[in-house]
Amino acid sequence: MALLEQATHLLNRLPAPAVRTLETLLHRLPGAQRMLERQYDQMLAELDRALHPYREELVQYRQLPEQGRDRDAILAEMERLQAQESVRWRDGYVSGAVYHGDAGHIDFLNRVYAINSQSNPLHFDLWPSTAKYEAEIVSMTAHMLGASHTPDPIVGTVTSGGTESILLAMRAYRDQARAQRRIQQPEIVAPMSAHAAFDKAAQYFAMKLVRVPVGPDYRADVSAMERAITPNTVVMVGSAPSFPHGVIDPIPALADIAKRHGIGFHTDACLGGFVLPWAQELGYAAPEFDFRLPGVTSMSADTHKYGYAAKGTSVVLYRGYALRHYQYYAVADWPGGLYFSPTFAGSRPGALSAACWAAMVSMGAEGYREAAARILATGHLLRAWIGEIPDLQVLGDPLWVIAFGSPTLNIYQLLDAMTARGWSLNGLHRPPAVHLCVTLRHTGPGVAQRFVDDLREAVAYVKNHPQDKGEMAPIYGLAATLPLHSLVTDLLRRTIDRLYEV
Ligand SMILES: Cc1ncc(COP(=O)(O)O)c(C=O)c1O
Repeated sequence: MALLEQATHLLNRLPAPAVRTLETLLHRLPGAQRMLERQYDQMLAELDRALHPYREELVQYRQLPEQGRDRDAILAEMERLQAQESVRWRDGYVSGAVYHGDAGHIDFLNRVYAINSQSNPLHFDLWPSTAKYEAEIVSMTAHMLGASHTPDPIVGTVTSGGTESILLAMRAYRDQARAQRRIQQPEIVAPMSAHAAFDKAAQYFAMKLVRVPVGPDYRADVSAMERAITPNTVVMVGSAPSFPHGVIDPIPALADIAKRHGIGFHTDACLGGFVLPWAQELGYAAPEFDFRLPGVTSMSADTHKYGYAAKGTSVVLYRGYALRHYQYYAVADWPGGLYFSPTFAGSRPGALSAACWAAMVSMGAEGYREAAARILATGHLLRAWIGEIPDLQVLGDPLWVIAFGSPTLNIYQLLDAMTARGWSLNGLHRPPAVHLCVTLRHTGPGVAQRFVDDLREAVAYVKNHPQDKGEMAPIYGLAATLPLHSLVTDLLRRTIDRLYEV
């Protein structure tokens, strides 16, 4: 660790081309590789306990047990682990992750899942009820997001999550541009703050992602975004709101630019799709972001976040049938028969779609409006309270995902100090910051107050213990400052390797 820290310090003084050359060299020299591997192992060994907390306590199944285990024993073990693991999110110590979490709501979704557990929408002839649920999920989401205010048909599909919604939309734009504009090297223009899923889409589908720096308010810089458009641009992206800073990009201006340039515009409302529709009428300043804007040609909205469905569903929407057709997969000459599917997966868990539909119709517009009111009010309060802590600075003008940094403290040490007090917050980069994504779990009596009390205490602790290393602070600090990005991504890949180690 110490070696990497020193190297980082030195590397940050070098010009970018020199850093890139060094990076290439490091990957070619066997000695350097070995040295890096030792450093990685050392860092990961420190994390191992966090990655495998049950190693000592539970049986590890490297291979199938010869005899099947008793079902009651399996259930009892799982119930014990879940009881242990749900304390933090249930009591409101976790940023995002579980967005509703009331016991009655969870029991209801579990019953719906159990009723529909065998359903697979690939076989729509066997489970037409699931096809009905999915069509209605899409239609209800589309109408919540402006479909009633445009003459264009707003259509879409249910997907497995925000990432899949984004990947599918990006691929649809790529294939449309290839077919209609003969574009061979398609480009996506997105603000720096857009979700990592856009990088993933660009990598998977051989597209170029042009990341544009955001303005001082952390929102997309409208004129810089326009300047980034080239003849190869197929789509521009804006977030409502962005994951890191929770701010809403100037979608009306961006969508207008996209329309003038004849390219697509995707509003990523994975986080905001089920909150922002009610924000304006609840008196919060939120710009238009949906299909009311003629330039918006697609959207993603996550039912498994503020739609309060179980994890594993999201909705991707398009203006018009043509774009959605580029998302589908259909093959007519496969020996296995006529095969077609709307999304990446073949077989899918119909029970999750049923639970998503049940969550939506049981909440109703009124339920979503009330939930949004509670979340926005808590966000407003927390934002003001965090802003009053002298060493902290709230980034931008957020509504309910509140990011804060510090001009005086190491913010990653503060993250560790909050972890030590039971909190699970998100660490951010560029600039170094931390955020709390407010969910219904934080709207209960005393939870917001407890957060701010703990935050004040954690700030005082970090000020008094500047040398405390903490668990994640060194790794975040390294990732934030080490200019050799491929080393950090190496480390992340190795973390996944470790997770899969039995
Ligand atoms: C703005 C935004 N877009 C996309 C995603 C990706 O969603 P998922 O994790 O469901 O794939 C997230 C997740 O937090 C998000 O906040």
